[in-house]
Amino acid sequence: MNREWYKDTAFYQIWPRSFKDGNGDGIGDLWGVYEKLEYIRSLGVGGIWFSPLYVSPNADFGYDISDYCAINPEYGDLEIFDKVLQKAHALGLKVVMDLVINHTSIEHEWFQKSRRGIEPYTDYYIWRAAKPGGGKPNNWQGIFESECWRWDDVAGKYYLHLFSSGQPDLNMDNPLVRAEVERIMRFWLDRGVDGFREDVITFISKTEGLPDDGFVIGLRGMKFYESGPRIHEYLQQYRRILEQYPDRFVVGEAPMMTPRKALEFVAGDKRDLDMMFHFQHMEADCFLIEYLRMPFNLRKLKRAFSNWQKALSGKGWNALYLENHDHPRIISRYGSEKYRVQSGKMLACALLFQQGTPFLYQGQEIGMTNIALPKIEDYADCVAQDVYKRCKRMHLPDKAAMALIRPATRDSSRTPVQWSAEANGGFTKGKPWFYVNQNYPEINVAAAEADPDSLLHFYRKLLRFRAGNDVIRNGSYHEYEKHSGRLYVYTREYNGQGILVVCSFTEKPAEFRLPKRLQGKAMTLEFSNYPVTDGPEFTARPYEARVYTYETRKRAKK
Ligand code: GLC
Repeated sequence: MNREWYKDTAFYQIWPRSFKDGNGDGIGDLWGVYEKLEYIRSLGVGGIWFSPLYVSPNADFGYDISDYCAINPEYGDLEIFDKVLQKAHALGLKVVMDLVINHTSIEHEWFQKSRRGIEPYTDYYIWRAAKPGGGKPNNWQGIFESECWRWDDVAGKYYLHLFSSGQPDLNMDNPLVRAEVERIMRFWLDRGVDGFREDVITFISKTEGLPDDGFVIGLRGMKFYESGPRIHEYLQQYRRILEQYPDRFVVGEAPMMTPRKALEFVAGDKRDLDMMFHFQHMEADCFLIEYLRMPFNLRKLKRAFSNWQKALSGKGWNALYLENHDHPRIISRYGSEKYRVQSGKMLACALLFQQGTPFLYQGQEIGMTNIALPKIEDYADCVAQDVYKRCKRMHLPDKAAMALIRPATRDSSRTPVQWSAEANGGFTKGKPWFYVNQNYPEINVAAAEADPDSLLHFYRKLLRFRAGNDVIRNGSYHEYEKHSGRLYVYTREYNGQGILVVCSFTEKPAEFRLPKRLQGKAMTLEFSNYPVTDGPEFTARPYEARVYTYETRKRAKK
């Protein structure tokens, strides 16, 4: 059995609500997924990660779960889930589920019983009395809302919610809660799923006493739960469940993670996680979160890429991504909508020759872009709504509030996938639950299929090249032109073979000269996003990317 199959494959992430509507109600669902499994397979990926499919009141679109062992009726039922699973497996696709255990929905039965003092649920959540005089239990800040404590009249206490008030944090220190998590994991593993993506998993252990925080840059309170005191103990407990099933795997989401700390989670045989989603490379145009915007800074991006490549090399394994349901579209951020296809291909090259397991997000493969809607009511994400409220509290005019929200909101990655030039981008025959990006007549899967030069076909070629390529899987990583604000250049080398990747992150011309040690070598061009007649030294055109292969050893004289 190949216990590390995940090192030789790539994943495709489905955010089910916007993937494909199969029953005409305007909401993406598992019938839609069933129809599109061959398409997913055709990309050259070997697995799917499903964002939550479970029953949820949708305060945070599935990340607030009210029943972990049933499918949201909007998306289908266990019967169609099993069919999807079976067909995916038959096509050679692994299936990974989202495991959201830092919090539940307030509508979960556990919470409903907990707030009423019904045993054994009373201690399932983090309840605290008001401070004398009625104050909040501590001074922590919320991640989604400014407050992270909500008063509950039924319980007569506050509950902790790091995310929205509809997402009360579970008390992971309670062994009964952890037994529930084990039960949920077994439920899905017994059904045949191949692993989990564990949501904000590094936040599940909170420091005893939930102490007040001092002055911090960032969020007050976070240091008391980010990689908290019992995190490894809990992750090991869940890992042991996974180990009882052959070939299973787990990727954890880890906001605020640094490469050095990551090794405590992903290195060695007894690792907690096989890999993690960190955020450092997603902060090149903002300060910590997309709402605190800054000009795009290529050096910051390169630093994040290189630090993670180097730190984990030979010790752990990277999860590679540029898009998911939590970030605006990458072309609109690090690339250029004007040079949409070129910059999309360039970004693919920047990422896909790195070591790790790539995760592609629905729509990324056709180069979908951000939306810009007039009013706050047009947006659906709870974070956008909360930011708007905060702006209003600060008496910011509407125009300024919307200017802040538009480029940053997660809604941009949550518009329906554009399948064709038909009405609603072919996503639904009904009324789509959310705005369809009006560029769908131009940007859609059918058009990309028909164009041999499309981003879609480019992704396919890169993924095919990657599969089984030992240089990408095992090679060393070396960055060049570190100080360049225009070019990202790196090599990978293994066993006599080398790959050189040159990516321009600008519209402006960028001069590329071969690093000394590569000069005079025979360089074979493998990929480019423009017609090429020169090289390997060249002046890069807007967002140009080139990938060359070479031999690292000197050729023997003939
Ligand atoms: C993770 C999810 C995000 C969700 C949050 C709270 O960051 O990816 O979508 O809102 O956790 O569950």
